[in-house]
Amino acid sequence: MTVLVFLDPDYDDGRIADASQPQLMATDLGATRGDGIFETLLAVDGRPRKVQAHLDRLASSGVLLGLELPAADSWQRAIDTALREAGPADEQVVKLVVTRGVEGAGAPTAWVQVSPVSESVRAKRGRGLAVLLLERGYDSTVAQRAPWLLMGAKTLSYAVNMAAIRHAHEQGADDVIFTSSDGKVLEGPTSTVLIARVRDGGKELITPQLESGILPGTSQGALFAAAREAGWKLGYGPLVPADLFESDGVWLISSVRLLAPVLSLDGEPVSVSPALTAELSELVASVS
Ligand SMILES: Cc1ncc(COP(=O)(O)O)c(C=O)c1O
Repeated sequence: MTVLVFLDPDYDDGRIADASQPQLMATDLGATRGDGIFETLLAVDGRPRKVQAHLDRLASSGVLLGLELPAADSWQRAIDTALREAGPADEQVVKLVVTRGVEGAGAPTAWVQVSPVSESVRAKRGRGLAVLLLERGYDSTVAQRAPWLLMGAKTLSYAVNMAAIRHAHEQGADDVIFTSSDGKVLEGPTSTVLIARVRDGGKELITPQLESGILPGTSQGALFAAAREAGWKLGYGPLVPADLFESDGVWLISSVRLLAPVLSLDGEPVSVSPALTAELSELVASVS
């Protein structure tokens, strides 16, 4: 079911490894310190989507962590090997992972993992979300002042993001939107926030400011490009929670779950537009 391909200088197309057997050293800094980065992308009919955007973001994360990564063409070949090994499927999750490597070895550990899209993700697709606004504890300018916080990097240290989602579930909600200590809307623990404003027939799609310490979403980037072509105006925050309540629709978007409409924030309903959701979902589907 799950295929692993390690990027190994001795294997041009990557080294296939048995996913049912241990493959990492217990002293790997990815395991002991969460010191590493990753990307998660969707493959449809065996073709990975937005590969370049994901490789570009992996490279930016690598720069922020001072990690030397394998070259883009090695990733491409390892992804091809893993998808070939996994065999045909309508949808698969492709994960790219790089850690700082085994303690003292000085070389990163890098691999590609291909697995099926879980039933729970498939079931959640398109379903409306009850969302909690939760504070992240940083202000929206910290990323520029404190690069060691790695705010715009997709690091392996996702324990906080997962804890926020568990907290939401414990309160009966589905997902989370983080806010900054200066009251700005940031992002979901695994997704980008989008809102739509429809005024005098013109449609605007807005996402929080990228400089506010959030991860630049590859899905948001691709959707913005497609929406511009389709005549939408585009905007980049800053957004505050009142903007979400006053909008004509709020969504969370990410590479595997895709576009999910937000139904309520902290139990208060927000505007929901099935027509806008359908229009934006069609634009998302058109992007590869
Ligand atoms: C914190 C965070 N923001 C945004 C996103 C959405 O990114 P993408 O659209 O590239 O999947 C993710 C994806 O996992 C994420 O973890």
